[in-house]
Amino acid sequence: MPEIIEPFRIKSVEPIRFTTREQREDILKKAKYNPFLIDADDVLIDLLTDSGTSAMSAAQWGAIMTGDESYAGSRSFKRFEAKVQEIFGFKHVIPTHQGRAAEKILMAIVGGAGKTIPSNNHFDTTRANVEFTGATALDLVIDEGKDPDSMHPFKGNIDIGKLAALLESGQGVPIGMITVTNNTGGGQPVSMANVKEVAKVLRAHKKPFIIDACRFAENAWFIKQREEGYGDKTPKEIAQEMFSYADGATMSLKKDGFGNIGGFLALNDDSMAEQARNLLILTEGFPTYGGLAGRDLEALAQGLDEVLDEHYLEYRVATIRYLATKLTDKGIKIVQPPGGHAVYIDAKRFYDHLPAEQFPAQVFVNELYLAGGIRGVEIGSVMFGRNVDGVEHGADRELVRLALPRRVYTQAHVNFVADVISDMYDVRKEAKGLKIVKQAPFLRHFTAELAPV
Ligand code: F0G
Repeated sequence: MPEIIEPFRIKSVEPIRFTTREQREDILKKAKYNPFLIDADDVLIDLLTDSGTSAMSAAQWGAIMTGDESYAGSRSFKRFEAKVQEIFGFKHVIPTHQGRAAEKILMAIVGGAGKTIPSNNHFDTTRANVEFTGATALDLVIDEGKDPDSMHPFKGNIDIGKLAALLESGQGVPIGMITVTNNTGGGQPVSMANVKEVAKVLRAHKKPFIIDACRFAENAWFIKQREEGYGDKTPKEIAQEMFSYADGATMSLKKDGFGNIGGFLALNDDSMAEQARNLLILTEGFPTYGGLAGRDLEALAQGLDEVLDEHYLEYRVATIRYLATKLTDKGIKIVQPPGGHAVYIDAKRFYDHLPAEQFPAQVFVNELYLAGGIRGVEIGSVMFGRNVDGVEHGADRELVRLALPRRVYTQAHVNFVADVISDMYDVRKEAKGLKIVKQAPFLRHFTAELAPV
């Protein structure tokens, strides 16, 4: 079996800037030991996120020139709407500037004090938009989804028993959601069987079922690979079936839309869609462009076709698996099995001499930057821990996410990342902890200032 290769050739390139370790020591110190505060130009390989960082294709750039910028009834919207309907099958397509704008509108309609909205794991922005309305965001992922070593093929699944119990409890549940793939849980897929069961339970209680579809194509690929009966279906057919069980979707096209910006809210219900369009006009724009330009709608319609290409998806998932295998061969612990868009390193076990109060996952992202100019993101006690009256309360996990932008880095780049981490592993016992010296009351990870202990 020949190796899987990048299913594209490169027409347009961007230089990346090399720095010395001495320069990076200075840069990191100036950034207060928080990589969010480093200028992107000072980063060699940026694995902070796979969102909005994809490389567009020549066909997408070409489509941009054909954008119709008419305020109302734009041709580009028609193309976008038709493509979204073809894949997702929903009656109403409401374009937004990104995923969280769709979440904000949806939650304004269905949220409110005393209500509970279940999902496998709500992504941070979804949770924030639920909670902003006074409602509770409830995570009901299966137990295996919380165990980093579990090899369950669909660790993003919802615990159906817990979902049914919630609905039977009589608590106010306006909608049910599921995130594909489950980003918070490690980019883990949801099975078709689980989507079907979730739909059945919600339908029995007459509750709309909304899918957070950010990484739907990667999820479809995992179903094709791992679920019986889907091996001969195309990713598009699998996606179509998955959404046929739902009543709507929120989507960030910055992920599986190959967009640098873009999103939508799609719904079947006429009355919900009418309310959504009324809210859309307040903040995003007229219903035929939402928060986007006509040229964006063109590029996204094209991107939605490309993301379902089998060669692309095979390469995409293989890249993540390739990096994961190199790290695990070295003895490094990661969230298993590797997901669709990122490798999640267990920094607690990497730096097992550092307590949670010294932020081992933050130490990892800093050492990674110093060693190779590579930027990852901490998902640990800086992000999810709390400081109560000067005392640090750690998070339950200390993870580092290395998210791979789509079609951006080559195999040599990935080899370099693996080699840098491998060298870090050899000298891991020398790493020193960090402390927070300044922090905001909410979402402190974005702006926190740290210092070596
Ligand atoms: N849902 C999921 C599962 C996401 O991963 C994201 C964004 C959103 C919703 C919100 O979409 O950014 O377009 O408003 N995730 C990015 C990340 C930021 O880095 O994982 P958005």
